[in-house]
Amino acid sequence: MACGLGPYVGEGRRTNVGRRDRLRVLVEEALVKDIMRIGGDIVSSERFAKARSVPHHSKDGNIAVHSMETAGYALLLARWLGEHGVEVSEVDAVRASLLHDIGMTVDEVFLSPSYIKARSHPREGARIAREEYGASEKQVDAVRRHMWPVWHVIPPMSAEGWVVSLADKCCSMHEVGRTTGETVEAAGKWILHRWHRFSKLLSRWGKQ
Ligand SMILES: [Fe+2]
Ligand SMILES: [Fe+2]
Repeated sequence: MACGLGPYVGEGRRTNVGRRDRLRVLVEEALVKDIMRIGGDIVSSERFAKARSVPHHSKDGNIAVHSMETAGYALLLARWLGEHGVEVSEVDAVRASLLHDIGMTVDEVFLSPSYIKARSHPREGARIAREEYGASEKQVDAVRRHMWPVWHVIPPMSAEGWVVSLADKCCSMHEVGRTTGETVEAAGKWILHRWHRFSKLLSRWGKQ
């Protein structure tokens, strides 16, 4: 889960691998405690238990683990932003992160073709967040727009919404990288490579 944000993980990078791993475990344990303090009711709910059986991003991944990891990234990001003068509610960031993909637990959503699933799970998730978990409007908006800029023209309306969206992307890249046996850096390089090719194509198209 560790993603190199600020002093929480960054200090470990300057030491040897053993110490870094120990630090990572400590960071993750502390994060899980905080996530449970803020969103324990969500994690222990029946629907979240169902999320464990919904695969996501990798062979051994699922929505529940992905959502916990996204909440971990969001918490680190919120704290890092707080240290830099941007106020972000940890409660809203964590709860919206835990709920951001909960729409995937609806069978009709999960079983639909991937492009429909990608479009409909934020909307369905926002409904579930409001109706089943009593989410605040800020949390509902963060869930509804977490896929931005994919499928959504309008970005999240709060700092917490941006944090959730960014945390989800960091986490997804990490998971996809893990699946292919690559690191986050390698996944980033792959995206840059594809972008480079795409921009080359665009400039060729512009000259025609
Ligand atoms: Fe999503
Ligand atoms: Fe996600």
